[in-house]
Amino acid sequence: MEKIIDENKQGETLVLNQKDGNTRKLFIESYGCQMNFSDSEIVASILTEQGYNTTQNLEDADLVLVNTCSIRDKAEQTVRKRLEKYNAVKKSHNPGMKVGVLGCMAERLKTKFLEEEKIVDLVVGPDAYKDLPNLLSEVEEGRDAINVILSKEETYGDIAPVRLNTNGVTAFVSITRGCDNMCTFCVVPFTRGRERSRDPQSIMEEITDLWNRGFKEVTLLGQNVDSFLWYGGGLKKDFEKASDIQKATAVNFAQLLDMCATTFPKMRFRFSTSNPQDMTLDVIESMAKHRNICKYIHLPVQSGSNRILQEMNRQHTREEYFELIDNIKRLIPDCAISQDMISGFPTETEEDHQDTLSLMEYVKYDFGFMFAYSERPGTLAERKMEDDIPEDTKKRRLQEIIELQQEHSFYRTKQHLGKIEEVLIEKLSKRSSEHWSGRNSQNTVVVFPKGDYKPGDFVNVKITDCTSTTLIGEAVGYSENN
Ligand code: SAH
Ligand code: F3S
Repeated sequence: MEKIIDENKQGETLVLNQKDGNTRKLFIESYGCQMNFSDSEIVASILTEQGYNTTQNLEDADLVLVNTCSIRDKAEQTVRKRLEKYNAVKKSHNPGMKVGVLGCMAERLKTKFLEEEKIVDLVVGPDAYKDLPNLLSEVEEGRDAINVILSKEETYGDIAPVRLNTNGVTAFVSITRGCDNMCTFCVVPFTRGRERSRDPQSIMEEITDLWNRGFKEVTLLGQNVDSFLWYGGGLKKDFEKASDIQKATAVNFAQLLDMCATTFPKMRFRFSTSNPQDMTLDVIESMAKHRNICKYIHLPVQSGSNRILQEMNRQHTREEYFELIDNIKRLIPDCAISQDMISGFPTETEEDHQDTLSLMEYVKYDFGFMFAYSERPGTLAERKMEDDIPEDTKKRRLQEIIELQQEHSFYRTKQHLGKIEEVLIEKLSKRSSEHWSGRNSQNTVVVFPKGDYKPGDFVNVKITDCTSTTLIGEAVGYSENN
């Protein structure tokens, strides 16, 4: 049984997961990528079977879990601050409270966490959540507990996630775990381990369950979804050794998209994240073929300079990236594309930075997620390169990238003016309780007066106005998908 709580604090639980008979209270919050939010739903599901219901109050939690991010130093600092907060609450209100750290920081820091942060009782890496029941018994007996073993097989395909933070309309379904790409700046391959794909059968079952419960949109999640490859489990390199039958029945990402779109014709699908080097034409063709696959690709590039791309161990050139963009726009002319960009990677010159700006001019991205380089311990860049770009230069270049992106976002949102677009209603607009907020196929937020519509409806909306990030319009009727 789920009860909706009308709260909207970043990182915290919006829906209380309540199973009759459960007496213990779990406070769980997540930071970082969508995968972490999705993993917390798996953790909550495992703990529901251990007698825990979720709570929003730190003061009465028996167990506090924080799912952590290591991607940049700032993300780790945020978690450290949260641990201070838990400590204060434990001292003032809740002496019996136990605290566990999950996710990438747990994996990166391992036993150091127990030494550095006295408040922490439990450290669990991203592949060890099924061990939580054992680890919790250790903690109950007064011992610190830790499991940070990474797996070559674990995909949690057999666990039905409890939906936390849900609007009842959109949900995440993870399809791969880990990453084998080894970009030199990135800590993810170290914290999330080797890349594995999940059994398509279990993916279909999870989507069936979501459909039966009224969900209308699924985002397929992975660090690198385009390299999805199922042939019976295990690492991708073992595919070479797989039998002919396994190879003949293997499912790649384009085929998985086809399966999803065909099996659930009224469900809308998105996916994230794509790595340019792994995105093939058949994926774009599959998107073009199905109206229920959203016309939006998050396609991080990180830099526009060939030299920097090589230093980052990104396996493509600027020219190959343009070719991919051209193919996308040729097959799906109205496809939206977004980027991740890093400013101030070691040795980046003004000329390299100008290459980034000119690449952006070519693509004119719809959105962007932009960061100053943050050196991460253990990565190849940290071991082999000096973090030599002064902080103010990184910041200035970042600002130039952000300003250019704002211009492009505005240019892109203006292209929607006057059009009638299908929008899936997700929730009330943040600014006005008289307006719904949803997204169009291109992932742009669309806001319009409520009328008689409700969340979960697919509505045709005439776009009448826009800012650089939001479209404003009027509903003209239900769409054919409804
Ligand atoms: N494939 C992943 C990428 C994870 S990291 C995904 O699913 O999104 C998300 C973004 O963080 C990267 O694309 C990169 O732009 C940024 N990032 C990663 N490591 C970084 C670092 N050391 N410093 C600054 N930004 C970083
Ligand atoms: Fe990180 Fe590169 Fe993988 S950014 S998550 S190593 S694709």
